[in-house]
Amino acid sequence: MASFELNINGQQKTVDVDPTTPLLWVLRDHLDLVGTKFGCGIAQCGACTVHLNGTAVRSCSLPVSAVTGQAVTTIEGLSEKGDHPVQKAWLEADVPQCGYCQAGQIMSAAALLDNNANPSDQDIDAAMSGNLCRCGTYVRIKKAIKTAAQL
Ligand code: FES
Ligand code: FES
Repeated sequence: MASFELNINGQQKTVDVDPTTPLLWVLRDHLDLVGTKFGCGIAQCGACTVHLNGTAVRSCSLPVSAVTGQAVTTIEGLSEKGDHPVQKAWLEADVPQCGYCQAGQIMSAAALLDNNANPSDQDIDAAMSGNLCRCGTYVRIKKAIKTAAQL
C-alpha cells in the first residue's frame, strides 16, 4: 500500500492503495465515481475511458501510480450540469440504448473535439474505433459528434 495524491475533476484526493491498482478501481471503489464503467479490463472496449491531461485514456489499464499529479477528468467532471456540447448533442440524438458504453463514448468524443473542432468522418472513425458498443449505436454516435462540433 502507498498514499497517492490525485487531481480528479479539479479536486485533490488522497487514496491509500497498492501502486498497481488500476485508476478505474480507484475511481469506482475509493472515490465513488461510478460513471466510469468496467467492460473488458484489457484496454479493448473503451467503457472505462477518462481524460488524462485532456487525452482519452483507458483507466482499466492505467496504474494509479502513473497519474499522480496529473489532471484526471471523469464523466462526472466533464461539465457542471451535464451541459457539455457532447452531452447536449447526445441527448438531442437520443444516442444511448442500454447506456453501458456511453460514458466512455462521450469522453472519447469530447477529447476528439477538444483537439479537432471539425472532425471528418475518418477522424471520427479513428478517434472512436476503440470504443465498442454492444447495442450498435455507432450511427447515432457519429451524428451526435457532428452536432456537438456545431455547438
Ligand atoms: S474496461 Fe477498459 S478498455 Fe475495456
Ligand atoms: S448503448 Fe449499450 S453497449 Fe453501447
